[in-house]
Amino acid sequence: DTKILAVGNLSTEEATYAQAVQLLESGEVVAFPTETVYGLGAVATNEKAVAKIFEAKGRPQDNPLIVHIGSNEEIHEFISDIPKIAQKCMDSFWPGPLTLILPLKPGILANNVSAGLNTVGVRMPNHPVALKLLRQLKHPVAAPSANRSGKPSPTKANHVLHDLNGRIPSIIDGGVTGMGLESTVLDCTSEIPTILRPGGVTKEMLEQVIGPVNEAKLTDRAEAPRAPGMKYAHYAPNAPVFLIDASLNSIRKAIESIHREQKKAALIATEQFQLPEADYYFTLGNDGQIDEAAHLLYQALRSCDDTDADIVLVPVFPKTGVGAAIMNRLEKAANGKWYLGND
Ligand code: TXA
Ligand code: MG
Repeated sequence: DTKILAVGNLSTEEATYAQAVQLLESGEVVAFPTETVYGLGAVATNEKAVAKIFEAKGRPQDNPLIVHIGSNEEIHEFISDIPKIAQKCMDSFWPGPLTLILPLKPGILANNVSAGLNTVGVRMPNHPVALKLLRQLKHPVAAPSANRSGKPSPTKANHVLHDLNGRIPSIIDGGVTGMGLESTVLDCTSEIPTILRPGGVTKEMLEQVIGPVNEAKLTDRAEAPRAPGMKYAHYAPNAPVFLIDASLNSIRKAIESIHREQKKAALIATEQFQLPEADYYFTLGNDGQIDEAAHLLYQALRSCDDTDADIVLVPVFPKTGVGAAIMNRLEKAANGKWYLGND
């Protein structure tokens, strides 16, 4: 079975890190917390170790992994050229929830890390446990989110255990993650830098530092293949998710119509939309506290699987700031579906 390694207890902490480092060096995978979500790491130069990540997650082979580093110097080992805008991003946002897609120096990292592309995503996570692990290990670590492929990313060690118990040797438990959504992915190899996945470092924040930034639209099929992960089902609970207008009236009518069909509704929403008619309600925190909604979203999506709800309703958020990241995940969870009702 999968072993949980505790950190935060000073007397055993050093032994815990030593154990995790030893596991990684011997070609094993280890799940660890970051400020976004839990990652499932392997040494990025070890092809067999990286293959275990794909195996444990059931991840499609054509979806490349993000490489995590603990110090800026490490990047020169496997990146051929750092564009000026990328350097500015590193200076302003690292460590932090920003992944930069950069040109790969061939022959250093295992081929399965970048799924055959000539670019690779790199980030320095802003989490004391992740940083300490990476700095002790002194190797770049390839790590996708530590969930079974298709499920919401894990924001707690328990989510990792639920998805991967028996499939990986150990999880470092660093408590609940901060941001709760995966990092922003910024392609720095295109003429105008392009956000492939919105996250905690918002378009607005990036533009202050590097000027105009493009956004790859989910609906833009020409753009979609640029982040290979974008074409797969994501963040999906067992019951279908539907987006709905952010109005009490729309939600009430939807629940009535779901009940007329003898079905049960789960509602994932901020407190102002909590309706007693909903069969299940999972909070996204108080109205106007967008960071809290991001922090709670994956826990809420996962909680639906503990119910017998037939349909999950989620009122939409404005797509500004972190709202863009929330809506990106929700549109994928819903596979673009809106609840329109039938009356
Ligand atoms: O916050 C995060 O980024 C977390 C933590 C663990 O760091 N990691 C994470 O990894 O979310 P993952 O594998 O679940 O998502 C990586 C995303 C995928 O959509 C993938 O397609 C894209 O980044 N990606 C990775 N390398 C790429 C590349 N060379 N070109 C384009 N997209 C890439
Ligand atoms: Mg993922």
